[in-house]
Amino acid sequence: MKSKILITGAFGQIGSELIVTLREKYGKDSVVVFDKKPNPEFEGVAVIGDITDAELLRKTVQTHNIKTIYHLASLLSAVGENNPELAWKVNMDGLRNVLEMAREYGIKVFWPSSIAAFGPTTPKDHTPQQTILEPSTMYGVTKVAGELLCQYYFTKFGVDVRSLRYPGIISWKTLPGGGTTDYAVEIFWKALEDGAYTCFLKKNTALPMMYIDDAIRATVDIMEADPKKISIRTSYNLSAVSFTPEELAEAIKKAGVPLKMKYSPDFRQKIADSWPRSIDDKRARKDWKWKHEFNLAKMVKAMIQGVREMQSAKS
Ligand code: SER
Repeated sequence: MKSKILITGAFGQIGSELIVTLREKYGKDSVVVFDKKPNPEFEGVAVIGDITDAELLRKTVQTHNIKTIYHLASLLSAVGENNPELAWKVNMDGLRNVLEMAREYGIKVFWPSSIAAFGPTTPKDHTPQQTILEPSTMYGVTKVAGELLCQYYFTKFGVDVRSLRYPGIISWKTLPGGGTTDYAVEIFWKALEDGAYTCFLKKNTALPMMYIDDAIRATVDIMEADPKKISIRTSYNLSAVSFTPEELAEAIKKAGVPLKMKYSPDFRQKIADSWPRSIDDKRARKDWKWKHEFNLAKMVKAMIQGVREMQSAKS
């Protein structure tokens, strides 16, 4: 039987776009998806279940001859703070289940880490690849532990696992769920619906961000890179743009969309304050030739166009 690719957390913000790219690249039938909830619009092989269910994962791997896993199922930073126990269980048990399958069945793995692996003691500007990792969120704790676990499975068992520290990902096809960087997506919907947005972060909170097309390209590129070029087996720093809510609002207005901003910071402000403002990703740029394509203006244009499309399809 032809080997297949499995995407976990497949109907989430990143998975739903990765499905399309991988199908285009490797053929429609080459992708099997795994998610906790069904998606009625999806046509293809979908396994519905919990990523902490090791037996279901094993059955899926065996049934479909899985040789690559993009393991995206995870709880994000804000929901993780509201339920740290569940965040630990889903993020850590899920990753360990995937790595165990990879060890037994010779599977290549992609797993995302995040800027959330950093913490208040990390240098905030141009954060280097190797630096202090003392996160203050449970999500961040699972990312640091996960990075080390990936490296361990690589050095101890030879599992080919590759990882990126994603910044906040900005997209319009599927909404993000439960992250601290989600304001940078919500703002577009509110701007185009109401001409007004109340931001849950302060106006001067700079965070590293990336447009979805860049994130998908980075993900596919690192997986396709020659293994000899992968010199980091914890997780690569990855960066595109950094901006504050105020700078984003100005860029949206400059693109011709009227927008009244209010700021009402909540518990997510503390999370954002613990993360870097910008990231040094020269290792990714050197090792496997990473290069972002979307700056702030280009991303804003793509988002406005995409959200408008979604809105007119809905009405
Ligand atoms: N976008 C994520 C979050 O805000 C960061 O990895 O939780």
